[in-house]
Amino acid sequence: MKRAAHVAVRVRRWILILAAMLVAIASSSLASAPPDGAPASLTEYRCYDCHRDRESVAGPAFAEIAASYRGKRDAAAKIAAEIRYGIRGGGPWHMPPHPEVSASEAKAIARYILSLDSTDAAAQGTGRR
Ligand code: HEC
Repeated sequence: MKRAAHVAVRVRRWILILAAMLVAIASSSLASAPPDGAPASLTEYRCYDCHRDRESVAGPAFAEIAASYRGKRDAAAKIAAEIRYGIRGGGPWHMPPHPEVSASEAKAIARYILSLDSTDAAAQGTGRR
């Protein structure tokens, strides 16, 4: 009887530890959850602190940015430059410069951002112009 009670305490302790671990995992992934397919550099440089793929937070949603560049020439190069040099658009927030992001990483991020527009269109079945 005494032994069974002891086991029960141990099991309960394990459940508490597991629950604490799950909460830790859940909250750390909430802080900057990289969506599937996003380049790791987006998490590494904390872009998701201010951006989400499909939701405006402090910064515009990446899908919105992609839509605003639709059909523009050199879109990836322009976005890559903005990532590295930052923007001040006059809103309460600005896009800080990220000189630590290499030119090739910035290009890869820009291509990912632009890809969100076409995946959106494909998902809605509208296609691209
Ligand atoms: C401190 C918050 C913050 C962080 C961190 C941040 N951004 Fe931004 N970003 C913004 C804001 C705010 C804007 C809108 C700026 C404006 O239009 O005035 C913006 C705009 C942009 C744009 C818009 C370009 C356009 O032409 O409309 C891109 C692309 C972008 N961010 C990418 C990134 C990437 C990639 C990272 C990580 C390397 C990053 N941002 C990190 C706040 C942030």
